[in-house]
Amino acid sequence: MNMNKIGIIGTGFVGMAAAYSLFQQKLANQIVLVDKNHDRAHGEALDLMHGQPLVGRCEVSAGDFSSLTGAGIIVICAGVSQSSPDESRLHLLQRNIKVFEAIARELDHHAPEAMLLIASNPVDILTHAMQSLSQRPNNLVIGTGTLLDTSRFRTLLASHYDVSPQSIHAYILGEHGDSEVPVWSSASIAGLGIKGNTVNGREYDQKALAGIVTRVRKAAYEIIATKGYTNWAIGLVIAYIIRTVRNNQRSVLPVTVRLNGEYGISDICLSLPTIIGSDGVESIIAPRLDEEELAGIQHSASTLKASMDQLV
Ligand code: 2OP
Repeated sequence: MNMNKIGIIGTGFVGMAAAYSLFQQKLANQIVLVDKNHDRAHGEALDLMHGQPLVGRCEVSAGDFSSLTGAGIIVICAGVSQSSPDESRLHLLQRNIKVFEAIARELDHHAPEAMLLIASNPVDILTHAMQSLSQRPNNLVIGTGTLLDTSRFRTLLASHYDVSPQSIHAYILGEHGDSEVPVWSSASIAGLGIKGNTVNGREYDQKALAGIVTRVRKAAYEIIATKGYTNWAIGLVIAYIIRTVRNNQRSVLPVTVRLNGEYGISDICLSLPTIIGSDGVESIIAPRLDEEELAGIQHSASTLKASMDQLV
């Protein structure tokens, strides 16, 4: 397995934002693009590859599933995406599950040891589906989950408190979708809890903070209503997770993993803070939650379970 070789399945807006982020951040020296529209993948590969003299050597090519043999990580961005602002991620489920069945078969045949990073929506359910469909161990199948929502949350909190987003410690956990949960009980800046405290001269303003959560929850809908899709931030999320795996950083990231008894939940995939390293999921951390947050995570789990139960 070669951690310098990354596969991307699906060369739509998300797949190519991921490819561009990986290329630009020098996180691979070989990127293989696979798409049912091979010509499109070929054009994207050429376009990106022509930047090599400006960034550094990275071979970008279009291939089929057999070209993914030996790849250390394969990102799955294939499937249909939300096509209108009022289509929820869960509505995509039936359409995308069929695509995943075929992909799982191909990847188990050609790249049985690769780590799979799922970005297609609904990401939590498709991560669960891929874990069930693929023969590889569950630690090698991760979803991008609420790292994107957490990034949006930190961005807005940073602006509210006028501090770098990288100095904000706050998570969105649970479903990557409408039932996601802000974890205020442990949200902090420099160890000072955000809840109930004045931070950097900003008094605790429950209404303003609730507004931030609403904006995070609605972010994808807001962007889709304008440009039609989201891609740049999720592309950066994908690159960030890949950097963590490649460098065995053991960073704690809120990504989609299968729960095994945390908060009394089992056999459901949703986001919890997870130590990510070269084996993918190294371990899951279940932070102490207050009553409302715990109920929120359990509501996320039952929402996801209800959708999975609709699958035949
Ligand atoms: C996003 O949150 C649509 O899941 C995608 O941007």
